Amino acid sequence: MHHFNYKEKDLYCEEVQVAEIADAVGTPFYLYSHATLLQHFKAFTDAFQDIRHLICFSMKSNSNLSVLKLFAQEGGGVDIVSGGELFRALRAGVDPQKIVYSGVGKKVEDLEYALRSDILMFNVESSQEILALNGVAERMKKKATIAIRINPDIDPLTHPYVSTGLKENKFGIDIKRSFEEYTMAAELPYLRVSGISCHIGSQLTQLSPFVDALKKLKEHIKRLEGAGIGIDFLDLGGGLGITYDREEPPHPKEYASAIKKELDMRDLTLILEPGRVIVGNAGILVAKVLYTKASPEKRFIIVDAAMNDLMRPSLYGSFHGIEPVRMRDRESVKADIVGPICESSDFLAKDRDLDAFEPGELMAVMSSGAYGFSMSSNYNSRPRVAEVMVKGAQYFTIRARETYEDMIQGEVIPDFLSQ
Ligand code: LLP
Repeated sequence: MHHFNYKEKDLYCEEVQVAEIADAVGTPFYLYSHATLLQHFKAFTDAFQDIRHLICFSMKSNSNLSVLKLFAQEGGGVDIVSGGELFRALRAGVDPQKIVYSGVGKKVEDLEYALRSDILMFNVESSQEILALNGVAERMKKKATIAIRINPDIDPLTHPYVSTGLKENKFGIDIKRSFEEYTMAAELPYLRVSGISCHIGSQLTQLSPFVDALKKLKEHIKRLEGAGIGIDFLDLGGGLGITYDREEPPHPKEYASAIKKELDMRDLTLILEPGRVIVGNAGILVAKVLYTKASPEKRFIIVDAAMNDLMRPSLYGSFHGIEPVRMRDRESVKADIVGPICESSDFLAKDRDLDAFEPGELMAVMSSGAYGFSMSSNYNSRPRVAEVMVKGAQYFTIRARETYEDMIQGEVIPDFLSQ
């Protein structure tokens, strides 16, 4: 369920007409529905309410401060993967004791920053990182709480670029070797071994890979407990998929009941790191048609949003629904929606049956709330777009469109070039 619906012929976000926002803030822009964000967050957390759990929103999917603040107010934590994400999370008021830090390449200064900030747990991904973290903690005279991220070698049955739990992927520590890593870590004086984690991939539309991963982690926990290593946190990562086109992913309730059924270890705290399932369908990207052109072979609709604004179609060939902001009765055509960037991979939709959009018209690129703005760049020196949040009958710009000045901020021309 989301709150982007037509009233008569106009697309609304909650009670605000999308065209009205476009008039005020210009295009392109990302638009999020507060009610949808909240509803998705609550659906997820409610599904686990009968067990001890912590929802650590995976903020790489959407790291806007207002979005983070909203979830923090609902009691949520975050999953971070960089010092920059930690900075944002703290700024948004996320409780450090609800922050878990994953990623294969954590820099020493970021480890220090996170330890200084008293985060809940480091999900470590290599033996060198274990040693590095112990060294950092020793220097800081603190203990770092860790989980080892296991690579369970499970096929998540999703796009290869977003599979993370197969043995050929760079993530985690091979499940066959992880027992040795645990015993090594348990002997290090500045580490507190407390958790086990995994994240097998993203946009999963089936439950069985999650359940299989959980089974493997449970076996591992038993073996560790046998060796005197107690586990308090089981972090199952994120990955639950959403409907972009015709996918029929399980509802968070079904996902939760499959996990709870398998979990059956009541003294653990279950950590989940959902990203896309919370924010994906809570946001759209609004663009304006600049031109159309057709050759005998092809028809193009050229819009003012591009691959730098929404990279998913170019990078993964992802499908995003395209809807008019104002419906009109007209023919449908097969066309590509392309942006102004000088790359043939700059498209938002390919060979799609679409309304015959005309210059000046607005369109909504649906399901863009996850990995949309957060993956955007300045390529072709395009300022990053605005982000807007609607709540009821009001809208708020939660990130101003970048200016040209913002874009060159920090660039310096050395003296030898200034003559
Ligand atoms: N936890 C960890 C450790 C992760 O690496 C990720 C996503 C998540 C949680 C959240 O996964 P989600 O619930 O959103 O599936 N840019 C790609 C997706 C990359 C996912 C990376 N890791 C896309 O646009 O499809």
